[in-house]
Amino acid sequence: MEYKNLLTTYKDGILVVTINRPKALNALNKQTLSDLRQLFEKDALNLEGLRGVVLTGAGEKAFVAGADITEFNGLDAQGGLDMAQNGHDIFFSIERFHVPVIAAVGGYALGGGCELAMACHIRVASDKALFGQPEVNLGLIPGYGGTQRLIQYIGKGRALELLMTADMIDAQKALDWGLANHVVPHGEEIEKAIEILKKIAKKAPLAISKTIATVNAYFDKEHDGFKQEVLQFAQTVKTEDFKEGAAAFLEKRKAVFQGK
Ligand code: CAA
Repeated sequence: MEYKNLLTTYKDGILVVTINRPKALNALNKQTLSDLRQLFEKDALNLEGLRGVVLTGAGEKAFVAGADITEFNGLDAQGGLDMAQNGHDIFFSIERFHVPVIAAVGGYALGGGCELAMACHIRVASDKALFGQPEVNLGLIPGYGGTQRLIQYIGKGRALELLMTADMIDAQKALDWGLANHVVPHGEEIEKAIEILKKIAKKAPLAISKTIATVNAYFDKEHDGFKQEVLQFAQTVKTEDFKEGAAAFLEKRKAVFQGK
């Protein structure tokens, strides 16, 4: 897996992806977005034994400080449409990824960076993390799903306040408001994310991917989430892992899941 702006390591079924533009606080330029698309829509899909992904940013200061503002020059309405649609497509690929993706946030998660963290399934923040949607400072609104996903995590009133004031919130407030799942000492966020992924990796893989799809369905306005739950539940009932899980429980032993 070769990328211009991503570093990857793969061990024990867990892929750690580092956005590697620390001098620009890991801002999402076109190349980085294209790398993320290639990873989540192609390369990682074919990775043998993949059970989870950690997404993080290089350097001490930032997860991702937003879309790359140096690429905004000359952006017209059509360019804005294309840019936002491109971001939406990639972030949906992350949100709909078949194994859990955890954002390990060790610094600024602003604008497109906060949106990227929100597209992940779980967020582990270091005690130095800062979250915000400062787009109104630039005369913009979020373009990578921020207006929709922020409401999902923190509710309409708090989302509107953050979106309109451009205020940043620290890790503790993100935790209190439901934006972060955990806060850990700075530097321990990747380790904590891996620990969570290892716990999830012990469960039945198909049940995990269907959990992701079904929870996503709640927010999918084209599909009734409750109906999706019925359909996906029926799919899990068909699996060998379900038979094994139920049998193991009744036999009072640990289940051995095969992903079938
Ligand atoms: N795009 C491009 N470059 C960026 C950047 C961004 N979003 N954020 C930071 N940088 C660059 C800076 O220009 C600077 O580069 P130079 O060293 O070449 O000058 C370098 O990263 C370090 O940044 P600062 O010197 O500004 O660092 P700081 O510690 O003083 O401030 C900060 C940190 C508060 C995060 C500040 O950099 C900042 O406000 N960045 C912009 C944040 C922002 O507005 N994000 C939203 C972008 S719009 C968006 O994301 C739209 C969308 O939804 C799709």
